[in-house]
Amino acid sequence: KKFLKRLAAGVLAAAVAAGLSGCGMATSGKRIIRISHAQAETHPEHLGLLAFKQYVEERLGDKYEVQIFPNEILGSAQKAIELTQTGAIDFVVAGTANLETFADVYEIFSMPYLFDSEEVYRSVMEDTDYMQNIYASTDEAGFRVVTWYNAGTRNFYAKTPIRTPDDLKGKKIRVQQSPASVAMVNSFGAAAAPMGFGDVYTAIQQGVIDGAENNELALTNNKHGEVAKYYSYNKHQMVPDMLVGNLKFLNSLSPEEYEVFEEAAKRSTEVELAEWDKSIEEAKEKAKTDMGVEFIDVDVEAFKEKVLPLHEKMLKENPKIRDLYQHIQDENEKIKGGQ
Ligand code: GCU
Repeated sequence: KKFLKRLAAGVLAAAVAAGLSGCGMATSGKRIIRISHAQAETHPEHLGLLAFKQYVEERLGDKYEVQIFPNEILGSAQKAIELTQTGAIDFVVAGTANLETFADVYEIFSMPYLFDSEEVYRSVMEDTDYMQNIYASTDEAGFRVVTWYNAGTRNFYAKTPIRTPDDLKGKKIRVQQSPASVAMVNSFGAAAAPMGFGDVYTAIQQGVIDGAENNELALTNNKHGEVAKYYSYNKHQMVPDMLVGNLKFLNSLSPEEYEVFEEAAKRSTEVELAEWDKSIEEAKEKAKTDMGVEFIDVDVEAFKEKVLPLHEKMLKENPKIRDLYQHIQDENEKIKGGQ
């Protein structure tokens, strides 16, 4: 089944790359805008992207048609970023971990316990003026971030319960294919196993790994709750996903068109954020009652203590994250002080 899925993805990606549909033109003569993402069609990001499609087509529908490809059908995040880089497709939703190899400022989001609270996380991400700088950091790679989506808080989940940091010892835990994520999970005392998102289910099922770390939707949307029954709220990361656009395409738009795409991106984020909180509650309920997943509250401080030295280390090794780190610390202080 997996082979067939791979094959289908490969054929589709090759067809897209070769521009079989006529260099992005539909038979109707419209320019096709292709967006790839890794989630199911019920996921908040898909719903946000539908709002993006609707907004663009309502205003520029005589010229553009937006096509959304969910479920990694065009390939894993890494693959889809490459397709966006070359312009074979126009947009991809990618987690910041997947962007690290293109611009190392994105390593900051892999830093554990970076934001003191969800309030701080949201306020930093919503500061679009500040984030523009960061968004432009992949220009050299040929793509640019146009907006962010909430991808929640990441926690460990596994086949056996993780109640204390000691329970992570010797466990093989899947991480995203990013050096900073590998370093993070290793400093928790586990053994990091980097792999693509689409491979995680089978790897847990077959016992290649003991567990993984992600938001609650991985249990339901990606069905990991069928194979991993213990989800521990150790809250090591709050991370965004980014909507990334091919830079040449973005630069080819007239100022009026650009404005439409910009507004469409903004609205897609509004829809995604509103859907997010709802979907987390629903996912927890579903995971508990339908899948028999146990949600475990842990002593977060104990987990935090294990990995805090990583802050110094990362700051020392990567000067590009220092400004944003300071900015986030200021925001942590400000919100703590209730200003
Ligand atoms: C989440 C996140 C994705 C990420 C995935 C993963 O689903 O939204 O961007 O790629 O986790 O762990 O690979």
